Amino acid sequence: MPGQLLISSLVLLFGFNSPAPIVAQANNEPALPRVYTAAEKKQAVHMIVATALTVIPEPPDCAAEPCVALTFDDGPDPATTPQILDTLQTENVNATFFVLGTKVAGNEAILQREHAEGHEIGNHTWDHKDLTRLNNMQITAEIEQANKAIVGAGVPSPQLFRPPYGAINSHVASTSPMPIILWNVDPKDWHHKDPNEDVRAVVDAVQPGSIVLLHDMHATTRTALPQIITELKQRGYKFVTVSQLLQLPAGTKGIYRSR
Ligand code: NI
Repeated sequence: MPGQLLISSLVLLFGFNSPAPIVAQANNEPALPRVYTAAEKKQAVHMIVATALTVIPEPPDCAAEPCVALTFDDGPDPATTPQILDTLQTENVNATFFVLGTKVAGNEAILQREHAEGHEIGNHTWDHKDLTRLNNMQITAEIEQANKAIVGAGVPSPQLFRPPYGAINSHVASTSPMPIILWNVDPKDWHHKDPNEDVRAVVDAVQPGSIVLLHDMHATTRTALPQIITELKQRGYKFVTVSQLLQLPAGTKGIYRSR
């Protein structure tokens, strides 16, 4: 693990209860502890950090390997999202969270954890209105208010937008400043609340390049997640964020349901 390598290297360097490095003396006098200069320490730290960073694996090449993007909508939810993050961490899997602006206050630490652990955070509007019933100004306000809340939580500004219910019309499509991300696998986890059905519906439907719609506030989805990941891994799938899956150049717009 790069993190462990980094920490153990720093412990060695600065000597928490470890013997100080010794240099032999030419004149048979007792060996003296070697004292590192500040510049030497700084250089060593740079070298260790650079080494640790190079060990972090590159995202998979989704043109050559079967990839899938799990997406979680309508959070963060303090009761279930942290457990979903625990599962993703244990399985070493990255996902994308389409966050509601109204859910950010009080849950900033969850957003920061999502970002710190390599997940992508997308915009799912301020309060989950059906945007096809709004005018362009109201649509813009829904998107911008959510962006402001998300950035205010200390994470990068979203690069992806998912309209509530996947509801789009020409106004929504032309008003969104970001690519619109829909899905091609929907187990309807919000409807049946049955973990086994979630697992079957996802695993049977996923194809290389799929985007899977899930919701992080359902306990049943949290329960289903480890089995979904296990079965997809057995089928050779690599888990990526939506941006890793689609590799869209900056400034791209459009509507995407899969790679
Ligand atoms: Ni939603």
